[in-house]
Amino acid sequence: MKIIVLGTGYVGLVHAAVCSEYGHEVYAYDSDLDKIKAFSTGQAEKIEKYVNEPGLANIIRETLGRYLFFSTELESIIEGADAVFMCLPTPPNLDGSTNLTFYDAAAQHIAELSARRKDKRRVVFINKSTVPIGTGRHLQNIMKAQDVANFGVASNPEFLAEGSAVLQARRPDRVVVGADEEQDFNILRRVYSQFVHHVRIKYIETTPETAEAIKYVANTMLLTYISFWNGVGAKIGEKLPNIKIDDLRLGVTADERISTWGSFVSNGAGGSCFGKDIASLIYQLRSVNVSTKMLEASYEVNEYQKVYLIDRAITEAGFKFNNKTIAVLGLAFKKHTNDMRDSSSIKVIESLLGKGVSKIQAYDPLANETARDVFDPSKNILFEKIHYYDSAKEAIKGSDAIFISTDWEEFRGISRTIEELVKPPYLIMDGRRMIPDYEDLVKKEYTYLAVGSMVMTPEKN
Ligand code: UGA
Repeated sequence: MKIIVLGTGYVGLVHAAVCSEYGHEVYAYDSDLDKIKAFSTGQAEKIEKYVNEPGLANIIRETLGRYLFFSTELESIIEGADAVFMCLPTPPNLDGSTNLTFYDAAAQHIAELSARRKDKRRVVFINKSTVPIGTGRHLQNIMKAQDVANFGVASNPEFLAEGSAVLQARRPDRVVVGADEEQDFNILRRVYSQFVHHVRIKYIETTPETAEAIKYVANTMLLTYISFWNGVGAKIGEKLPNIKIDDLRLGVTADERISTWGSFVSNGAGGSCFGKDIASLIYQLRSVNVSTKMLEASYEVNEYQKVYLIDRAITEAGFKFNNKTIAVLGLAFKKHTNDMRDSSSIKVIESLLGKGVSKIQAYDPLANETARDVFDPSKNILFEKIHYYDSAKEAIKGSDAIFISTDWEEFRGISRTIEELVKPPYLIMDGRRMIPDYEDLVKKEYTYLAVGSMVMTPEKN
């Protein structure tokens, strides 16, 4: 199949690479010349500057120039295409609705070019990145308005999670295809021929609107589950005596109907999708007069969760942030990525700065560079108080308290470093419950405050 992927963000680039691995002829298009130049080198360090996914650069290096091609010229590649995947950014508007400006511009562009095709073979335009329910119809209208001949529209939502996107793209748990016509389902079956009759992969064919809705319901359900644990499970551990949150989790998730994923209490779920998708679904449902109380609660629990350990540090541990130096470990929204979109660490750092800390000593194994852009001092003079370090050790040295915001495995061993470098009184705020031997630290007079349990101070223990 000749496949065009419009947009080489994380969804588009992974999809293009994995399709090329299965022997399709894939053209990945982006209007950003610097990106396309970087990807066309096939060099890991240049590719990972834009999309850092384990295994991705290897595939690109191996298929580049044989099955995978990069371009900034749509006109020269549209001829003969069977499938065009729309993988455009769809950022949120302030009211929660989805901003389709980039999407519409790209759709309009491809529609105009497709109308001038000479080959007239069947081509399917497929929405892959998350778009509001009904966007497939909207795309159909854009194509019709340009008199594009012999085309179909489909929805094929992406369910990849960052950090394991390549693994999941090679072996997804399901492939969802929404279309109106058999010939378009057929084209998608050929694109995904390796999955259609797979014994363990569910290949689901439905209407375009249902496919679009599946993505929203899946993501909002996942966030609601996390919010349930943070808003109910964690609170039980924090407010009622003698509760061990980790045992609570084990006991509840022993039921095979209840997932362990999402049951790890945290200082909130970040990432580019959950917050944006739940806000968009709230907007979409409100516009058809549906009560969205439940979704709003999930969203609010998650947002408050990002900073409430700082409030607890003041009210429960009596900590005063003014003029203090705070080590922040973990900036990425989760481990194995340098992505900081909607990361809890952003809210944490903003809150700390708002409370008058004198210095933030930040460290992340991958996201320090991302953070320098996010906290650009030209946007806010307070960001000058953030200093970046190449190791957890350096970040901890000289601090008055620590905040662990990301679940990087290397933080599990941090108690020894803390003992070595900083003496009590010292406050440990653990947003990810990363310190298994916290009781030893408390015995040595450190104060331990974690999501999911009561504050542990030397006197209280
Ligand atoms: C999420 C979904 O998991 C994917 O299925 C979906 O395709 C993707 O969004 C998307 O729409 O593109 P992702 O944003 O990569 O994937 O991240 P997750 O692995 O879902 O984690 C989201 C956040 O929840 C992270 O901050 C993570 O640390 C947090 N989390 C996860 C918890 O706080 N507790 C948990 O038990 C699990």
